[in-house]
Amino acid sequence: MTGSSQTSPANLGTVRVLLTGGAGYIGSHVALVLLERGDDVIVVDDFSNSSAEALRRVEQLTGKTVQVVEVDLADRAAADAALTDLEFDSVIHFAGLKAVGESVAQPSRYYRNNLMSTLNLLDIMREKDVRKFVFSSSATVYGTPAPGVARLDESQPIGRGVTNPYGWTKAMIEQIVTDVQRSWPELEAVLLRYFNPVGAHPSGQIGEDPSGVPNNLMPFVSQVAVGRREKVAVFGDQYDTPDGTGVRDYIHVMDLAEGHVAALRHLEPGVEAFNLGSGEGHSVLDVVRAYSEASGREIPYEIVAARAGDLATLIADPAKANERLDWRTTRSLAEACRDSWTWQSQNPNGFAGA
Ligand code: UD1
Repeated sequence: MTGSSQTSPANLGTVRVLLTGGAGYIGSHVALVLLERGDDVIVVDDFSNSSAEALRRVEQLTGKTVQVVEVDLADRAAADAALTDLEFDSVIHFAGLKAVGESVAQPSRYYRNNLMSTLNLLDIMREKDVRKFVFSSSATVYGTPAPGVARLDESQPIGRGVTNPYGWTKAMIEQIVTDVQRSWPELEAVLLRYFNPVGAHPSGQIGEDPSGVPNNLMPFVSQVAVGRREKVAVFGDQYDTPDGTGVRDYIHVMDLAEGHVAALRHLEPGVEAFNLGSGEGHSVLDVVRAYSEASGREIPYEIVAARAGDLATLIADPAKANERLDWRTTRSLAEACRDSWTWQSQNPNGFAGA
């Protein structure tokens, strides 16, 4: 099957998909959606920031088996040894380090890990003539948008005013994929620019399980709700937004996962970027309130200084994905909070408690 294109863009048959970083937060949800479709899933992960327990639960939920390969893709010899004899027809590349603050402190580690793993993966794909590639990018590639631009579409420039090495690795990988495709016209690549993924599978069996203190808002709020942390620090209330706190486009991780299936269906020779977002903005205080309602718990918070590098507002214009991928978000912030709470309350210590 390797390299053959058995599916027309409009109709995705079953596929055999390699998910790098497939044991992580987004990867595990995508694995679940693919397995439920009847696809075969191979997960490649180094488990440096993810848990094998997530995949066991995906198997339980779906009644299907996930093939797991433990390897660090940044190590070329190890990646060759692990992937050369594996059969797959498409790749979704999630694997990468993703903590913004850590990337500022350890830039070489971030560049080495995120760039080397992608270069190795693309080389191996070319050697195997595997042409279908979906990359887990981020709205962070838009950097600091020009004044007055709040809803971002894909025509916005990327890499301008990116404030940290993590964000640069995403922008650089987008460029690498673009250049590799130029030299290899058969490559079919999609770059998915995620806005703010939140929530969990409604079963509460899998969800976001950050190690250490969560950097992102919703996992922090959920840990306050469950009593692991005392209060939410709200980073600034003097932004030019309705309530003064930062506004983001939160997207339910199940909507995001379905966006990956839509992207696989769309693949055609070339490189195309798509925003995956809802097109709606919610403030930090909106999230705190919505989570409090979903959990039935009071969520104490305190306004503190703004975080360096944060923007007032970042909202997707998802029109291109709506039209060309025939995909849109269907789940609300309230549902994301409800599902996050189901996960968090059933697994107060994440997968570690399992
Ligand atoms: C962050 C990253 C982005 C990354 C994304 C992954 C930065 C500057 N950007 O986006 O590169 O792709 O996560 O999901 O780190 N907030 C608080 N208190 C907290 C945490 C966050 O008030 O404890 C606020 C932030 O100021 C922001 C909003 O909540 O207004 C969302 O923050 P966060 O979840 O960290 O996402 P982003 O900063 O949008």
